Amino acid sequence: MSVASLVGLEVETNATVIKSFADFTTDVTSNIGIFMMTPKFLHRFIIPYLQQVEWHRQVMRDHVLPVVRKRKEKMRQAEEKGVPHGLDPNFLQGLIEYKKPNGDHYTDEEVAQSILLVAFASVHTTSVNLSFCLYWLLARPDLREKLEKEMQEALGDGPITNEGLKQMVFLEQFIREVLRQGVDKLANAKAVLADVYTFANGYQVPKGRRVQSSNRQLNIGSNSARSTVDEMDPSLSGTKLATNPSREFVTFGLGRHLCPGRFFAVHEIKMTLITILRRYDISTESGKKPVPGRYLAGTVSLNCEDPLVFRKKK
Ligand code: HEM
Repeated sequence: MSVASLVGLEVETNATVIKSFADFTTDVTSNIGIFMMTPKFLHRFIIPYLQQVEWHRQVMRDHVLPVVRKRKEKMRQAEEKGVPHGLDPNFLQGLIEYKKPNGDHYTDEEVAQSILLVAFASVHTTSVNLSFCLYWLLARPDLREKLEKEMQEALGDGPITNEGLKQMVFLEQFIREVLRQGVDKLANAKAVLADVYTFANGYQVPKGRRVQSSNRQLNIGSNSARSTVDEMDPSLSGTKLATNPSREFVTFGLGRHLCPGRFFAVHEIKMTLITILRRYDISTESGKKPVPGRYLAGTVSLNCEDPLVFRKKK
């Protein structure tokens, strides 16, 4: 879904590009522990042995760069004829057309490589939260029943439409609560760039220091709050949207660098969740009710380790 929407229909079924999108974040982050234990000056020597970043870059060169060149040629021809180019206004197209403050455009290679940045930001985040949704529905059959009832009432057996989605208040509430619940306890690190940063309460942090925000506490309160599966209550979201940030919903960040992909992410989760529930019977491999979330090192939110089994409905 991400490849087709963000890069374009030219590569929507390209298995190599899809694999690169799917694996990029894990390939980049899986060696964080090794980097943390190795002195910084050695990093450039070990990088080629640890990450497959070069493979991903090559995939972009082989498969996305030709798309960029083809589109630019089409744009050039359209400009010559004085007609609109008619290309889809997706993320790749935005990068191609983007004018830097000095009037320059990104080079073809820069455009192709930038796609990896959005793969990093968009795929893992969305799929982890989608999986949280699935584990919650398995852990709480009452929520699943409510969601399936709403699906039937709003969409019947027809296609997923915007009108139908708008009627699905419970789905919106459920996703918002899953997103609130699923944050890392500490995240959204920001580095101090000024000589010193002074918080409103007078607390000062020196240049270069990183500050994390206690996301779970902001979203939900103390870490002991809502720690049991039964405490999950979608109705707490009321009429609030899963895309609207607030002081008690910082999963997409807040302020200047607030996630611009949140509308896409929430829409993607909705569409995928409905499609999966319609087409598959899902269960855990162990047959047990899952515990939806767990924490790595007490802070990083991870999904349940019990694999999911999808059986096509007849
Ligand atoms: C459920 C899925 C997602 C979550 C939880 C999420 C979360 C976040 C968070 C916490 C930030 C940092 C905000 C800050 O520093 O204040 C961020 C930034 C960003 N996200 Fe997302 N994101 C998701 C999906 C996506 C998608 C689908 C895209 C692209 C299509 C995307 C693109 C970005 C970009 C480009 C930034 C950097 C914004 C900036 O620095 O100005 N994200 N996201």
